[in-house]
Amino acid sequence: MQEQFRKDVDKGLSAFPKSLPSKYFYDKRGDGLFVQIMHMPEYYVTRAEFDIFKNQTQDIIDALQLSPDTYFELIELGAGDALKTKVLLHLLDKGNYSFGYFPVDISHNALDKLEKTLKSELPNVLMKKMHGDYFQVLESLKNPHHLKVVLFLGSNIGNMTDEVASDFIYKLGSNLSANDKLFLGVDLIKPASVVLPAYNDSQGITSEFNLNLLKRINRELGGDFHTDKFLHQPEYIESEGVAKSFLVSATDQKVSIEKIGKTFYFKQGEKISTEISRKYNDEIIGDIIAKTDFKLIRKLTDSRKYFANYILIRE
Ligand code: AVJ
Repeated sequence: MQEQFRKDVDKGLSAFPKSLPSKYFYDKRGDGLFVQIMHMPEYYVTRAEFDIFKNQTQDIIDALQLSPDTYFELIELGAGDALKTKVLLHLLDKGNYSFGYFPVDISHNALDKLEKTLKSELPNVLMKKMHGDYFQVLESLKNPHHLKVVLFLGSNIGNMTDEVASDFIYKLGSNLSANDKLFLGVDLIKPASVVLPAYNDSQGITSEFNLNLLKRINRELGGDFHTDKFLHQPEYIESEGVAKSFLVSATDQKVSIEKIGKTFYFKQGEKISTEISRKYNDEIIGDIIAKTDFKLIRKLTDSRKYFANYILIRE
């Protein structure tokens, strides 16, 4: 992990234009900041998807074509605190559905916490926490006799380019069987007046989240970034439908990173690209899944049409 981090930082900062992979936001500090982001009034994403889970729970169950007498496995990729999924689990539990819940996460901490809350809130739900790589977990659960529903919520797929997303979904499909479902949560294209503030909250949490990437390099790789000399900058053009986050160098400066053994130079105004957050519509989703073994069967949206859950079936 550490060695991969070192390599990726070296590669990203040696390139022009400079970039850093968004997956490195999520160390302990980053996890905490992301939880805070989800509570920011400007960050509508989590609440919009929660709205769907809260108000259309039975529609979700119907769309997934679940029945109380057929066992199925609910596998959640990047479960976190599973706040939305718990709404669904409650209704499934009440309806005496026969299922297992397998939350997958890279954070041991998040999985342990989730296990505790589920044990007290939903003692009858069979749950098994799964730590690690999504595809390794799916491989370990491979059993064509168990109907599977894979949940990939929160527009987490939005950090991928469309090509990578398509490959990712194709690969998910190759670990599933005919009639298994993929329940995909994505943020929809909407005006910049709504999207930009979501990535630039007035309390500065998103800025702190972005800058934590440089602080992590300082902590783990012996970098000497002056993080007050970099500014958080989100960008979004509605016609492109991609929100981008950058860190902009406020002055000409140099940064040394001990474990890489290099010094990197930044011009005033030079940008490091740190994240893309893709926004979607039916056409984009259609293009992405056209190159996979899934077919779209249903779409659910919140009342403001900010967010969508697409339900895909493996053919
Ligand atoms: C967790 C990837 C969905 O892109 O909206 C939030 C992460 N970045 N604020 C997103 C994030 C800045 C988030 N995802």
